[in-house]
Amino acid sequence: MIKVRVLVGRCGDISNTIGALFKVTSFGESHGKAVGCIIDGCPAGFKLDIARIQSFLDMRRPGKNKYVTSRQEPDKIQILSGLISGCTTGTPICVIIYNYNTISSDYNNITFAFRPGHADLPYFYKYGLRDHRGGGRSSARATIALVIAGAIARDILMCFYNIRVYSYVNSIANIELDFLNQAHRTQNQFCFPNVFNDLFIKNSILTGTQNCDSVGATIKLFITNLFPGLGDPLYSKLDAELVAAIMSINAVKCVFLGNGNSVNVLTGKANNDLITATGFLSNNAGGILGGISTGQDIILTAVIKPTPSIFLPQRTISSAFKNIVLSIAGRHDPCVGLRAPVIVESIAAIVIFNSILRQRVYCFI
Ligand SMILES: Cc1cc2nc3c(=O)[nH]c(=O)nc-3n(C[C@H](O)[C@H](O)[C@H](O)COP(=O)(O)O)c2cc1C
Repeated sequence: MIKVRVLVGRCGDISNTIGALFKVTSFGESHGKAVGCIIDGCPAGFKLDIARIQSFLDMRRPGKNKYVTSRQEPDKIQILSGLISGCTTGTPICVIIYNYNTISSDYNNITFAFRPGHADLPYFYKYGLRDHRGGGRSSARATIALVIAGAIARDILMCFYNIRVYSYVNSIANIELDFLNQAHRTQNQFCFPNVFNDLFIKNSILTGTQNCDSVGATIKLFITNLFPGLGDPLYSKLDAELVAAIMSINAVKCVFLGNGNSVNVLTGKANNDLITATGFLSNNAGGILGGISTGQDIILTAVIKPTPSIFLPQRTISSAFKNIVLSIAGRHDPCVGLRAPVIVESIAAIVIFNSILRQRVYCFI
């Protein structure tokens, strides 16, 4: 029996901004007029490569093939402020993406019912009402803001520091993909690191779909050429900030650095990265020790759950808190992990850029 002890039923939302200095505030809902972001703190005089921002948005875009949701959205970027002759002016950059292909009637039957595994029930507890159309604010359309701002952050990281952020799909369901080489990762639209497994993986996703079910995934992220000494001990550890940010992406359920998912069964001898005059002999730590970068690549894994909206009838409750069996309609990703790599990269770039800016503020000698 669910106990309803609502503490704050008409709460306002106060957490739509990420970053203290390069500040990204997102807005918009899945079936609202538009989604987008306002970016504060972007340095002036930086030439924005709008085609490149669009190319990252295209990697996240739905409706491209049968392995992702069939919602057709062009996701074309429109920049409303903060630019002159293609260069940033140092003033707020407002970016908007209009929603076109909303079919809100698909969600009629969840107006008064809560999808298992989705944010519907806790949103109702918090706000006392919710936008059920396409999941409202809990939809992954909110991640568009991250991809736009992340594209700018990663360009700045590359241009001024030669720092590169990239990721690939490391596993889907229980199938692990071996990383062959960089060429494989860029040769397919899914960031698979090994095109030979391609068909196998796609079949596994289609099997999930045919069974009206969904599958999970893991994404492996790399930040290369990062200098040592970035981050702060204790409460602003670089690893803690990366993990917290990536956990804020919908459906991410666990994030770990290096071999962090297995350190409990290793000995110190096996786990320690030995240090020599020419560098570390391994990178089990994932490039961060004591909350501060070691100068090795940052290696991080994000674990993503299977899409909650599946097409099997499932037990849940109505908003009158009565038992019901719910069949979900609408268009959904059979595997969220396929569209997630660019989102994980983007938010990581935002965190790293903020960390560098913070270091510049406090490090004046
Ligand atoms: C790229 C992406 C696409 C997603 N697509 C769907 C979808 O089609 N249907 C769905 O139910 N959830 C989808 N999700 C997941 C939900 O947004 C998420 O599970 C929900 O907001 C609950 O949050 P939580 O899983 O983080 O607890 C997607 C997530 C991402 C990152």
